[in-house]
Amino acid sequence: MELLNLIKKRRSIREYQDRQISKNDLAMILEAGLYAPNAGGRQQSMIVGVHNRTLVNEIGRLNLTKFDRSKLAGFFVSKEQPSVIDDQAIQNGFYGAPAVCVIFSEKDFLYGLADAFCCAENMVLMAMTLGISSCIVARGEETFANNYGMKLLGDWGIPKNYIARCFVTLGYVAGTYPGEKKRNAGRIRIVE
Ligand SMILES: Cc1cc2nc3c(=O)[nH]c(=O)nc-3n(C[C@H](O)[C@H](O)[C@H](O)COP(=O)(O)O)c2cc1C
Repeated sequence: MELLNLIKKRRSIREYQDRQISKNDLAMILEAGLYAPNAGGRQQSMIVGVHNRTLVNEIGRLNLTKFDRSKLAGFFVSKEQPSVIDDQAIQNGFYGAPAVCVIFSEKDFLYGLADAFCCAENMVLMAMTLGISSCIVARGEETFANNYGMKLLGDWGIPKNYIARCFVTLGYVAGTYPGEKKRNAGRIRIVE
């Protein structure tokens, strides 16, 4: 798929089939993340690909435990693929995706957050080329701010000065892939 077309067609997917993605595809998506632009050329972000459905669901539930959705009631994200804000009954911040990538960066690095989301964008586009659906999910730090979360970070060898910034869920869309989303007008200028 030609790049601009692929960018226009990508949507955040929040309903997944049970089918797991292959480890080979996961490896390519992680590699795409590594090649993202990065502040100062420091390449400090780290990415963990979780390819275990049970663990993904556990972390997905932790992703919502500290999220006060009542404060966002009234916001609207998506009719076709309701988010945790649209449907307060959703208990899993990863929407039942079979795999998730966790993107970490140094806690005190000024551009840590920006670096992480650059990785995430590379990864969702790479996933799209492989026919894999995805959704960028926030609340990284809060998700691991509990005993179980801290144990996972230790098991994964994440240095103490790193924090989770965001996630990229991965899987195959259940049902129909939503269509291109209309853009708000008047948001670009070309100045000569
Ligand atoms: C910084 C950032 C944080 C996001 N966090 C979440 C999230 O926590 N949960 C979620 O379902 N979607 C999340 N999204 C996805 C957006 O809701 C989605 O990109 C937006 O509604 C536009 O829809 P589209 O991606 O289908 O074009 C996030 C996207 C970005 C860029």
